[in-house]
Amino acid sequence: MTNNMFFIANWKMFGDLRAINSTKKVIKFSKNKKFARAQIVYCPPYTLIEQFNKITKNSKIKVGAQDCHFLESHGPFTGSVNANLLKIIGAKYVIVGHSENRARGDTNYLINLKIKSALNKNLKVIFCIGETLKEKKKNKTNLIINTQISRGLKNIKKNKNVIFAYEPVWSIGTGIIPKISDLEKQVSLIKKMINKIWKYKNPQILYGGSVNSKNVRQLKKIRSINGYLIGGASQNANNFIDIIKKTII
Ligand code: PGA
Repeated sequence: MTNNMFFIANWKMFGDLRAINSTKKVIKFSKNKKFARAQIVYCPPYTLIEQFNKITKNSKIKVGAQDCHFLESHGPFTGSVNANLLKIIGAKYVIVGHSENRARGDTNYLINLKIKSALNKNLKVIFCIGETLKEKKKNKTNLIINTQISRGLKNIKKNKNVIFAYEPVWSIGTGIIPKISDLEKQVSLIKKMINKIWKYKNPQILYGGSVNSKNVRQLKKIRSINGYLIGGASQNANNFIDIIKKTII
């Protein structure tokens, strides 16, 4: 394995001073040449982006946000943050289409607008897709994912700044990961779906959902995965470092 691997920390609505301090350990670790292939991205809550930019300044760690508003222009949208504001504060990445936000009303149409506005601001997009347990049980996984991809990318030309994250909703925060053989098949199907729309054979695809230092050795067997979107296990510096070590070595 020689390609870069992404380790994207999705801190969700967590992050206290102790957690931020402990990331200094990760910053130090990221400078170890042995792990040069690891592309570490922290996506803390909006309120911590600036702080993260400061502490990661002299490292290769990048900082991103967990969502953005769909409008590119500024406006009277209390509580919202758009791609432009993220750019101003120094974010380089943004997660779009996370199932927790889909559950709160993000439609494929809105996600498409969010991706467009983020790309216009030169942010790298981590575009989340994945089926719920109910959809899986009804054998609708491929239909759902295909719809999420085709609607999410509507009128967007092939763009290497879009990184896909396959996150089966039933895997997020549950401790359950798909069977390795199933996941491998699913990732290859997703690649086919993207290739059909973009004529792009090797899009970057991450896996997300209960990734931890115990199951990562299993997951890394899937060579077609370009890294992980990590929630719970990314909040503890030692766990996060452990995941990276076990993937790279
Ligand atoms: P988890 O979350 O690692 O805690 O399952 C992943 C995610 O929601 O991106």
